[in-house]
Amino acid sequence: MRTSSRWLALMLAFALVLSAFAFTGCAAEEEPAEEPTEEPAEEPAEEPAEAEYPEFTTIEEGKLLVGSDTAFPPFESMNGDVAEGFDVDLMDAIGEKLGLEVVFMTEIFDTLIPTLKAGGKFDVIASGMTIKPERELEIDFADPYYDSNQSLVMPKGSMYNGPEDLAGKRIGVQSGTTGEAWAQENIPDATLVPFKNATEAFAAAQAGNVDAIVNDLPVSTEILKEDDRGLEIVAQIPTGEQYGFGVSKDNPGLTEAINMALAELKEEGTYAEIYEKWFGIAPPAE
Ligand code: ARG
Repeated sequence: MRTSSRWLALMLAFALVLSAFAFTGCAAEEEPAEEPTEEPAEEPAEEPAEAEYPEFTTIEEGKLLVGSDTAFPPFESMNGDVAEGFDVDLMDAIGEKLGLEVVFMTEIFDTLIPTLKAGGKFDVIASGMTIKPERELEIDFADPYYDSNQSLVMPKGSMYNGPEDLAGKRIGVQSGTTGEAWAQENIPDATLVPFKNATEAFAAAQAGNVDAIVNDLPVSTEILKEDDRGLEIVAQIPTGEQYGFGVSKDNPGLTEAINMALAELKEEGTYAEIYEKWFGIAPPAE
């Protein structure tokens, strides 16, 4: 009895070891056989796209709510009740990667950071927002996605040789923007007139209610492109700004996921396509 059960146990163990060998042997054999026969094109193409995005939360399941001052073409503007622009297309492409429906919500620019920080209204800021150290104390930014500068806009034929020429003048700016900060620091004794968005600042300049506007260069270019309203860009101000999408510091996975998606879009050429669509030129080399 004893010996036979021991024998049985031995046999069983032996069989197990054997089958284990057979199993690994099989697996090892199959793999190299698989690669050349099956189409290898599919796998490498799919895997990086379906990269493992880190975990993050969104306010509404399946949606990415985006806060934006949608009066800033060509980055974001309203076409009827649909938001459009470079930021919109780029966010849509990111949303597609993350499996989320992107919904733009119009907000006043200088409320964007406090509202995002407070939480509950939108998940991301996409609003031509410049990455600035002061802002980085409040929120996180994903990697830069656009290089920008400031511009000075005045009525056509105005004399402008430097900020001194604006001393004592009325300067229109968008509240809470880097253009406002530049004007505060660089124009002596000017009266800054803050507007809630670029559209209102340009209307005021056209009406002669302000003497000049400081505003992001690509936006001034776009606004004056079709109808110059008797205004012109008298100076480009090389502030060397970079725009970034803003995310709450409580949601670091989302920042990381956006960065991964952005990198993929750049690699695939989708970023360049969207850039060319809105700016008519290829993006600058990295
Ligand atoms: N780039 C400037 C800033 O971050 C102006 C952005 C204004 N954006 C807008 N959508 N109105 O301060």
